[in-house]
Amino acid sequence: MTNKISAEKKILELRNTIEKHNYNYYVLSQPIIGDYDYDILLKELQELEEQNPEFNDPNSPTQRVGDDRNNEFTQVEHSTPMLSLGNTYNIEELSDFDDKTKRFFNDNADFKYSCELKYDGAAISITYINGVLQKAVTRGDGAIGDDVTNNIRTIKSIPLKLSGNYPEELTVRGEVFMNHKTFERLNNERIENEKSPFANPRNAASGTLKIQKSSIVAKRNLDCILYYLISDNLPSDSHNENLTLAKKWGINTPEHSVTASNIDEVYKFIKYWENNRDKLPYDIDGIVIKVDSINLQKRLGQTAKTPRWAISYKFKAERVTTKLLSVDFQVGRTGAITPVANLEAVQLAGTEVKRASLHNADIISELDIRINDTVFLEKGGEIIPKIIAVDKTKRPQNSEILKYITHCPACDTKLIRTEGEANHYCTNSLNCPPQIKGKIEHFCSRNAMNITIGEATIKALYESGLINNAADLFDLTKEQVFSLEGFKEKSSANLIESIEKSKDAEFSKVLFALGIRFVGKTVAKTLAKNLKTIENIKNATIENLAEIDEVGERIAQSVHNYFTDKKSILIIERLQNAGLNFEFIEDTSSKTNILDGKKIVISGKFEKLSRDELKNLIEVNGGINQSSVSKNTDFFLGGDKVGPSKIKKVKELNISIITENEFIKLLNLDL
Ligand code: IVH
Repeated sequence: MTNKISAEKKILELRNTIEKHNYNYYVLSQPIIGDYDYDILLKELQELEEQNPEFNDPNSPTQRVGDDRNNEFTQVEHSTPMLSLGNTYNIEELSDFDDKTKRFFNDNADFKYSCELKYDGAAISITYINGVLQKAVTRGDGAIGDDVTNNIRTIKSIPLKLSGNYPEELTVRGEVFMNHKTFERLNNERIENEKSPFANPRNAASGTLKIQKSSIVAKRNLDCILYYLISDNLPSDSHNENLTLAKKWGINTPEHSVTASNIDEVYKFIKYWENNRDKLPYDIDGIVIKVDSINLQKRLGQTAKTPRWAISYKFKAERVTTKLLSVDFQVGRTGAITPVANLEAVQLAGTEVKRASLHNADIISELDIRINDTVFLEKGGEIIPKIIAVDKTKRPQNSEILKYITHCPACDTKLIRTEGEANHYCTNSLNCPPQIKGKIEHFCSRNAMNITIGEATIKALYESGLINNAADLFDLTKEQVFSLEGFKEKSSANLIESIEKSKDAEFSKVLFALGIRFVGKTVAKTLAKNLKTIENIKNATIENLAEIDEVGERIAQSVHNYFTDKKSILIIERLQNAGLNFEFIEDTSSKTNILDGKKIVISGKFEKLSRDELKNLIEVNGGINQSSVSKNTDFFLGGDKVGPSKIKKVKELNISIITENEFIKLLNLDL
């Protein structure tokens, strides 16, 4: 019993300490311990919680990893409607707002404004009761929103518990967003996996909030700033002061907010951020101006949709005009055609822009864009330049509708466009030069075979007839490379060495390098781990493949198609002969003899590991997998939903039952 008491005490202590570190890191941006020490604390807590499941708490900092089960979003009514804001776009409109507010108080109220950044993300309303996060709801239609509590719990800048002198009942509202770095990383990953990238960080944030599995949300690294407090017991009449106090409760409130005594001061704040918003790590689309006194806010009240005490000043999207000179059609490694606009060079948000993607035929016809048109260019998500519209008043006479190409610009094969797909494709995958070069580039890339070779060298090797596919790389000699223009003794030797070294790449990387459509890095890993060898993958049926977690129909079909092509099989054979890895090698570094010949039966559903993983662990740790229980079985490793007859048999034969967590502990696994 004393053990339990001290375990509980230690658990509570660790939770408190970790929450404090989270606060320092995510809210104050001033961590006081390093990542390593933080991880140790978290691991210690995780272990204690596993050993003492009776003290589980959904608000423990260990629970931020999310849940793999599907969330069904329930609809929840907001206790106070989530209003939107009226917009202003210039100083005159803003002054009108100021005049109206003053008139409302017959010009004899002395009030201040609170000025804040207008964060561009997805609005959220979070309720805390007695300092514990209860519910998080999206805006929805303003009256009713989706309960996304499980997803919100994964955002590290949102406290699960408050500290200090917080009101018993508190609703905080704010914006969930994705910073630029995370957005770029996510989109690169999506492009790599042939998923369409998000148009901007706002879409990425709101899309992520609606994901059904919170474990995926947890990996997306969302952030949140909370700018509006609702409670009957707020400590101050000043909204701005309350936000400062709320920071002490652990709430991530706006860092750039000021109070202003008059509209000129407000305007200074606006001008400053209009000029400096590029320096922020996230998107803002304007400034929000609020009457600071809560008492006066109440007196001003609201109209049907917007409060009378607040307004937004929207920045004009940074927009420039330039001229469309020509359109190139690029062929990707999969044969997908991308039209790219060549523009007269122009400065936009600090960078020179000469090209912008036109994406596909639909976008071209929607824009009705023509050569020599004057176009409006904007930054999409502050990063990618995007053609927004055509200034038709400036269109030259006799301009012609831009015709989409019908044949591949590189090999003249007739293009196809499948129902439901946005892109046109060139199907001549084995003889179309940009596709060949693109496939070889992909094969060599860092996440694939990691061969140090540039685009120009691949081009030179291809054009001199030395390589026509990935397998040819392994037949290259130093002399052949040396014969290319610009290659010296040393650089030729380096390339051959890098190719040779790539033969050590593990199976999943080789599989990814093959460039099978929809088989990105992660899918390649999953396939390698589950099916173990290239032979098994080749022989798997579409159904077998689709059954694997995270694979699904579309990928299964694509993998199957790949292996029905004789030419792909031939390349794989040559790569096998060259000595590349086509078999999944278990990480034997963790091999032990802990299970020492013990006969184990697995049954049921498990939470942390798949049955295959468990079976493999039994083997590499010296145990023996048995398919059914008998009197010589040593352990029964039982998960959820084990049939009652099986349990009965296990009990009759007096076999020891172990749980997944006990098993993990037994093997000292680091999960
Ligand atoms: S206050 C009743 N403050 O902009 C007023 N909103 O276009 C509640 N927004 O619905 C909103 N930054 O989603 C407020 N500092 C800020 C904001 C902000 C972004 C969003 C919010 C609002 C929308 C209106």
